[in-house]
Amino acid sequence: MLVLGIETSCDETGIALYDSQAGLIAHTLYSQVEMHADYGGVVPELASRDHVRKVLPLIDEVLLAAGKTKKQIDAVAYTAGPGLMGALLVGSAVAKGLAFALGIPSLGVHHMEGHLLAPMLEETPPEFPFVALLVSGGHTQLVKVGAVGDYVLMGDSLDDAAGEAFDKVAKMLGLDYPGGPQVARLAMQGDDRRFSFPRPMTDRPGLDFSFSGLKTFTLNTVHAHAVDGVLDEQTRADIAAAFEVAVVETLTIKCRRAIRDAGVKSLVIAGGVSANKRLRKQLEEMMLRERGKLFYARPEFCTDNGAMIAYAGCQRLVAGQREDLQLRAVARWPLEQLPALR
Ligand code: KG4
Ligand code: ZN
Repeated sequence: MLVLGIETSCDETGIALYDSQAGLIAHTLYSQVEMHADYGGVVPELASRDHVRKVLPLIDEVLLAAGKTKKQIDAVAYTAGPGLMGALLVGSAVAKGLAFALGIPSLGVHHMEGHLLAPMLEETPPEFPFVALLVSGGHTQLVKVGAVGDYVLMGDSLDDAAGEAFDKVAKMLGLDYPGGPQVARLAMQGDDRRFSFPRPMTDRPGLDFSFSGLKTFTLNTVHAHAVDGVLDEQTRADIAAAFEVAVVETLTIKCRRAIRDAGVKSLVIAGGVSANKRLRKQLEEMMLRERGKLFYARPEFCTDNGAMIAYAGCQRLVAGQREDLQLRAVARWPLEQLPALR
């Protein structure tokens, strides 16, 4: 089954073709980052309008690259949520229009299920069951995954998501949006032992996360060391390093707890923050000590992309899941509400 995947939940237009036999055939991505950079974050209305401009040309581009025509597509998968309502509606409308015109099924995919399954696109995919750490701009969750659609939420963020904390700390340090990669780059120049930042909620049992206190601690450190509102270069880098190490260590402690609680030896990390090198290294070392293995997607499939949506949609479509032609876009959608595959 040849599935066209459409991702438009936020500030990236991602399009891909995934075949249930041949695997990933083609994919492309257009990032709106530059457009939103002037505003220091994603402007929802601008995002929607840009998806309108990009989605059809990108579908043509992917078909051309794959040497396929629209008529060869067997089904369309699109991100139905969670995400920005206007942006989601663009992908949903295009998917439903195409499906109607071609007389093929369409299916709304959960954005975080897409992220969670993205490591399946790699050469050595994880085997079920595993624990997944979903770390993106909007989510920090630990999920026990028994199979596609069999998700048990083990831990969740009580306030800011990890990616959101990276983005806000980037702003404090005068870095552009999206902040995660920039904070990581600056942290490489820093001494991570100069400041000791808290590891929130690691001194008590449980698997929930809270990064807002760490964010405030970072802001207070910035204020304490700024001279006339300006930080010297080394202090900026040292603060970035202290923050990154605190987030990474907090996530590592919770991941170790989660795999032990779940009794599994495989850990999957997915979502934008899973591209973070320090996080990957520390989790890899931890999993080695636990005699287990860490799995993640290539960097371009950690952040938003169409390939993960085409893949996740394909699994559900092949299993026979269908929906009607009504437009579907849901801003909030708990992962656990997804139906299991039969
Ligand atoms: O998964 P994603 O592309 O979009 C959402 O679904 O939210 O994640 C974006 C988030 C942003 O907060 C960004 O700052 C963060 O992932 N991010 C990183 C890195 N790359 C992206 N955070 C830390 N280190 C990175 N290398
Ligand atoms: Zn995402």
